[in-house]
Amino acid sequence: MPVQTILTQRLGLTHPIVQAPMAGGGDTADLVAAVGEAGGIGFIGAAYLTPAQIAERAQAIRARTDKPFGINLFAPLPAPVPPADASAALDRVAPYYAELGLPGPGTPALGADAFADQVAAALDCGAAAFSFTFGIPSPEVIAAIKARGMLLVGTATTVEEAVALERAGMDAIAAQGGEAGGHRGTFAIGDAPADFGAAQVGTMALVPQIVDAVRLPVLASGGVMDGRGIAAALALGACGVQMGTAFLTCDEAGVPDAYKQAILTARAHETRITRAFSGRPARGIVNRVMREVAEEEILPFPLQNALTRPMRTAAAQQGRAEFLSLWAGQGLGMARRQTAADLVARLAEETDAAIRALSGRLSGG
Ligand SMILES: Cc1cc2nc3c(=O)[nH]c(=O)nc-3n(C[C@H](O)[C@H](O)[C@H](O)COP(=O)(O)O)c2cc1C
Repeated sequence: MPVQTILTQRLGLTHPIVQAPMAGGGDTADLVAAVGEAGGIGFIGAAYLTPAQIAERAQAIRARTDKPFGINLFAPLPAPVPPADASAALDRVAPYYAELGLPGPGTPALGADAFADQVAAALDCGAAAFSFTFGIPSPEVIAAIKARGMLLVGTATTVEEAVALERAGMDAIAAQGGEAGGHRGTFAIGDAPADFGAAQVGTMALVPQIVDAVRLPVLASGGVMDGRGIAAALALGACGVQMGTAFLTCDEAGVPDAYKQAILTARAHETRITRAFSGRPARGIVNRVMREVAEEEILPFPLQNALTRPMRTAAAQQGRAEFLSLWAGQGLGMARRQTAADLVARLAEETDAAIRALSGRLSGG
């Protein structure tokens, strides 16, 4: 019997399983549509997409399925102060550029602020849910999303962030534990600066504390890779799970094969949180760039992201995992290579089995 929760009821899902938004190409239309067809819900990580690309991705999903899907953006951050001298950062990556056959790196500049246009495209894209990470969007954006009847989800890495998201009017919270792959969602509240070091509470500790502190439905995110993890999340009071790494090794995921192989062969202790690729803390598999780039050689987000983008693009084409941002969570040792449909079906069976096994144990069976 599939588990039903407030999340499945609200979105019309068969399973309380969310495929996490994965900006950067992992969450292809094929992946999102396959997760939806299998009874979960997939999200488009649209942070790096233009408004036209958001519309295209949504249409491509609609061409494959009429099931619901979600859209995700990074909440706007204050523009970083560009360093007076970026030469240390440029000098650090220059040899990587050379090894990949690229001309030397130029000083990265901030692009035009596309957020308002991205929001407009996301509102019109037909998504049933709209989620944010990195903070809280403006009251106007929140009102526009709610006026469309979309489920509005905010990402919290601490109890305080979850409370702030509830006060701002979110409909649900994605509780992102410290074991999660990808960028940390941590953000500043009021005058308190974002404390990335402190905000690495594990999923097991974070989820029940957020469940106790807010009245909203909570999604457990970080380290959930199989049905045991889903059953545990439900036991902690979550109404569903948001899984990234587990979906990255699916056939439909749009990351290079070298990246999938790295996930399938790395072990639980081989990820770290790094700023080396984007300038913002994110968890990935330790590789050469993470080992070699020193803190003082990193530009603030998103300038570092712009600086390393040509390197990452060339590395993806050449299958060079040592230069890729291999975002992945600590659960990666449980990753499996399969289709998204097989993964969702297996997760549902495993969840059911885990719950039955527990009730058997509890009743002395
Ligand atoms: C490759 C990758 C890209 C991600 N991109 C985003 C994103 O664009 N937006 C977002 O809200 N979360 C993003 N995340 C974080 C996920 O939402 C989620 O918190 C995380 O994947 C959960 O941990 P897990 O990877 O152990 O399942 C990303 C995660 C990964 C692995």
